[in-house]
Amino acid sequence: MSSNDNKQFSSRLGLVVATVGSAVGLGNIWRFPAEAQANGGAAFLLLYVACVFLLGVPVMLAEFSLGRAGRSDAFGVFHKLSPRGKWWLIGELGILASYTIGCFYMVVTGWTFEYLFNSVTGDLYDGMVQVAAGGDFTNADIFFAEKMHQYISTPWPPIIFTWLVILINIAVLTGGVQKGIERLSNILMPLLFVVLIVLCCLTLTLPGASAGLEWFLKPDFSKINAMTVINAMGQTFFSLSLGMGTLITYASYYPANTRLTFTSVIVAMMSLVVAVLMGFVIFPAVATYGLTDHSLVGATLVFQTLPEVFACLPGTRLWSILFFALLFMAALTSTVSIMEVTIAFLSDRFKLSRAKACVLTLTPLLLLSSICSLSFSSLSDVKLFGMTIFDFLDNFATNILLPVGSIAICVYLGWFAPKGLLHKELTNNGTVRSLLTGVILFIIRYIAPVMISAILIAPLLK
Ligand code: TRP
Repeated sequence: MSSNDNKQFSSRLGLVVATVGSAVGLGNIWRFPAEAQANGGAAFLLLYVACVFLLGVPVMLAEFSLGRAGRSDAFGVFHKLSPRGKWWLIGELGILASYTIGCFYMVVTGWTFEYLFNSVTGDLYDGMVQVAAGGDFTNADIFFAEKMHQYISTPWPPIIFTWLVILINIAVLTGGVQKGIERLSNILMPLLFVVLIVLCCLTLTLPGASAGLEWFLKPDFSKINAMTVINAMGQTFFSLSLGMGTLITYASYYPANTRLTFTSVIVAMMSLVVAVLMGFVIFPAVATYGLTDHSLVGATLVFQTLPEVFACLPGTRLWSILFFALLFMAALTSTVSIMEVTIAFLSDRFKLSRAKACVLTLTPLLLLSSICSLSFSSLSDVKLFGMTIFDFLDNFATNILLPVGSIAICVYLGWFAPKGLLHKELTNNGTVRSLLTGVILFIIRYIAPVMISAILIAPLLK
């Protein structure tokens, strides 16, 4: 028996909440609305829903099955299930991917913390009164662009907040699976839903709500092309935490009687619900205040456009605090899941204590994520393949490592893993029924690898 046997989530609810905590993050709240905006709104939403169920859920089940059957970290699972092959390389790749994602994800989580802090102190809106004298918000654009510059593109403030996030991660993760990860998610996830619903209630009563919703929910199929499909797939993998062993690691903490199919559907639906509710928050707000389309691009959306929206509302600071608290909670539960991949690997493989593994995993990030953060200020001229360090890591991990990892996981489970592994895991060793095993196996074997390859090939054809 491995040392993992005492590492387990305490209850079915706890494991679902923790897994949802990993999935729901910046991907749903920040990336989704921006992608939807860029790819035709409702048409993108439809594709995204289709990708989540047709590709996301089967790949998630592949990771769950491997994790629970191998009961080990991302490397150990492959090593245990197929000791002769070199399949453990897939695990190593996952660890590399998760660490790379960790570098820049910590930075963005740091920004959300910084914005939360400055919403609480009021600094974010300091000076706004003069700008908006007489109800004239025309200069708000510039005002918040400058704030964003001050918070993100100066060296120290973002680094300090990133470090704080890393320290919180160390504190949570040394607590272990139940007292750390599970407890954090149990507190933050319910809060997140409450805040999200409160924000929805606000934005759905704005004068431009129906125009915003119409744009978000009425599909324009002419917007769908090969690229939108590929973007929807990329969004699916990122937002469901697929392809780098996070879910393998979490599933190794699932009790033997956990129903994997049920769990995967709940996680996928929760993640979708958050993304859609976020659309309900953003598009009515943006439609009401007539903010321009370009203001929805990437980071500007949440760090410039939304403060602008809040500034137009009564109760500015309260909304701002709620929103950035929401973002921070979602991001934090994802960061711990990203780091857990490496921590589980170090503690299993090298028999390190949890505390040692945490410190060893997270202290290098103090330096690495600082470098990442500096790509918005002092290091903005340093380019790798024409991209800043931050953009390079983001693109490399999201567009290359995650798809390669997902394909490898599918190919391994579909063709090379011990016979019947998927069936055994989906039926909990024959004790429950699983009507869809055949379909899921078919997707894992044939459809997923081919479709995901498109993400890798598409940029080469441009
Ligand atoms: N799913 C998270 C989000 O939406 C991010 C994340 C956590 C992730 N673990 C991951 C992304 C593993 C890819 C792979 O923000």
